[in-house]
Amino acid sequence: MYFGKVLGTTTEDNQVLIKYEQQEVIVQVITEEIVRLFVPCWMKEYESVAIEGEPAVPCDFDVIEQQGQVQIKTPAVILTLGDDFKFVFTDKYGDEILSSYDGDRKKYEALSEEDLGLVESEGHQMAFMQKEHVVQQLFKLNSEDRFYGMGDKTGFLNKRGYAYQNWNSDIPQIHHENMPALYKSIPFVIGKGPGYTYGLFFDNTFHSYMDMGKESSEYFFYGADGGNFDMYFISGEKIPDVIEHYTYLTGRAPLPQLWTLGYHQCRWGYDSAADIRDVAMKMRQHQIPCESVQYDIDYMDGYRVFTWNEEEYGKKGELISELEEKGFKAICIIDPGVKEDKGYFMYDQGIKNGYFAKDKDGNVYVNTVWPGKSVFPDFGREEVRQWWANNHLKLTDMGVKGIWNDMNEPASFNGPLPNDVQFSINDRLTTHEEAHNVYGHFMSMATYEGMAEITGKRPLVITRACYAGTQKYAAVWTGDNQSVWSHLQMLIPQICNLGMSGFTIAGTDIGGFGGDTNPELLVRWVQAATFCTFYRNHCAKGQLMQEPWQFGEKVLDIYRKYVELHYRFLPYIYDLLFESQITGLPVMRPLVLHYEDDENTFNLNNEFLVGENMLVAPIVEQGVTKRLVYLPAGNWINYWTKERITGNKHIIVDAPLDIMPIFIKEGSIIPMYEDVQYVGEKKYDKLKLLVAGDCAWGSHYQDNGEDFEYMDGQYNLYSFTYENGQLDTDMLHEGYEKYNSIEVELI
Ligand code: GLC
Repeated sequence: MYFGKVLGTTTEDNQVLIKYEQQEVIVQVITEEIVRLFVPCWMKEYESVAIEGEPAVPCDFDVIEQQGQVQIKTPAVILTLGDDFKFVFTDKYGDEILSSYDGDRKKYEALSEEDLGLVESEGHQMAFMQKEHVVQQLFKLNSEDRFYGMGDKTGFLNKRGYAYQNWNSDIPQIHHENMPALYKSIPFVIGKGPGYTYGLFFDNTFHSYMDMGKESSEYFFYGADGGNFDMYFISGEKIPDVIEHYTYLTGRAPLPQLWTLGYHQCRWGYDSAADIRDVAMKMRQHQIPCESVQYDIDYMDGYRVFTWNEEEYGKKGELISELEEKGFKAICIIDPGVKEDKGYFMYDQGIKNGYFAKDKDGNVYVNTVWPGKSVFPDFGREEVRQWWANNHLKLTDMGVKGIWNDMNEPASFNGPLPNDVQFSINDRLTTHEEAHNVYGHFMSMATYEGMAEITGKRPLVITRACYAGTQKYAAVWTGDNQSVWSHLQMLIPQICNLGMSGFTIAGTDIGGFGGDTNPELLVRWVQAATFCTFYRNHCAKGQLMQEPWQFGEKVLDIYRKYVELHYRFLPYIYDLLFESQITGLPVMRPLVLHYEDDENTFNLNNEFLVGENMLVAPIVEQGVTKRLVYLPAGNWINYWTKERITGNKHIIVDAPLDIMPIFIKEGSIIPMYEDVQYVGEKKYDKLKLLVAGDCAWGSHYQDNGEDFEYMDGQYNLYSFTYENGQLDTDMLHEGYEKYNSIEVELI
């Protein structure tokens, strides 16, 4: 993009239009902390998918034109723009936070055809192919800059030195650290350097590229294959402020139903009602608390969505209600691909009404997924979403309580969908090239809206593919991981980074989806996932069975211990999700989120915080029974041994197979529930408070855990203070039936 010299500015409401010789740039002051830098190189009237409604609020800001430069000053941020689109963001004191990089991209010598052939002949692939992008911006990189967020990208917590792409991809192979893209596109990054913190959100749904200092140690860059340069600079004093502002923009995960946070069991390949029933019964028999045995694609009639395979799964609704009596809730998978099959109602209706995507010549586009030849609903149209939403009645009528959306990258077995297949975005017809990364978003939206409308309850929608902002509609899981230790290790940075990108409800397949798990791996996985907000063991057809009882008594006992622990801590997890609606902060947090000036936390990949008051250090290596744990400032109490340890140091902790080290921060109060086999088995009318230290404080949120009545004030908010051996309870809000008893356990 060529800009030239600044010619002048016009300001209207929150917008400053800057005329360059060759381009127009729009600076929009969204809030004092969020400044949008928009170069409409493609479309001026761009309507975002991630940001709904008008986020801009009236703000005081100054526009100063001086010596060919334009300065836009809000009370928190100063943006200076000069010729050739050189820009600098500083804080209100004038200290630089981020600036454009003035030089060109470093050129790498491309391999000759012959060399490339040689490299590929043994099966090697060039992961790093240099490419110029239609939209491209370089930023100055400082030696100590670190990067967090970016959704589900593989590898470590800190993304510095790695290059990623945003193109929702179905990857069944092992997700290694150099992988450019997985299932989700969340072009949001938190930048952190000495004395500054900021966020960047690039709102562009085309295939995009984020190189965080791999190509060069002097700059990092953002590029896209199409669309506008549409960047939101998000300031904040600390990382939590940046997350709060980012989720102000793109939305926050709504409070889920309490039961959805419990344990779920799944396997692709439970082929019949008998299989599902057997697993459910064994869950109860072995006393592993469990909310659902999920219905993977096997329950459908020939993989036709919104149908039921009566031959193998019995009469519609029968199995579901039988299991519901035992506390199991039905969660069914729904994929986007509709079987091309005349006479099948979904296909016929969609064809009649023109709901499926068409190729460039106007014919309904066909590719292959589970049902064989399939067609793809154009979820970017409201009418199509409404149709899809209404179809959920077929499932809810059978008693289905939650929906799991899969394959919505969209995945395809007969080659990728061509870029020119026609899909819509916000009812504007466009191509797959622009719509690919938001396909899962619109599908989740349709599912959420259908389930909310039909059931009146807070919908459980789980999605594999998504875009920034999908957190408003769906929980996520990290797709097809594998039963290998490196995948367990990745759980921590991946869930923490998803959490810092707005996705507070997330989990990985416990035990690993592909490949064969083993007893030790399974145990360490169910432990490490104890504080995941989506807690599910799931496995692929053809792999070793991996239900908790498959590996003998010892594994079963430890497994049970951690699922029970998960249930005991449910009120703490739920409290954090309540808080998250206000702050956007996740449940599982990397230590750097709360200790950002402590360099021991900068690259900490193998421990995490739960809220602010618990620290968890799972074992994620084979054969390890002791580990180094970093405890940040403050006093910490070992949950198992009750030992009090002063932080700001590394300690060595014992962790035999049945122990995952957990520490509670002194001065905190953690709410806990009693043991149940499932949420709803008995009324949670007793609360236990884990009080850490002689002098402690905590708050707690309580509601009916199901519907939207809390929005009308039907909830309780407690504030607890423990001092001089006594607990004081203050009701900050009272609008729901209170607990019968509140018990204190001192640690
Ligand atoms: C995909 C999903 C997986 C599911 C399978 C069959 O691979 O990621 O979770 O079990 O499809 O539906």
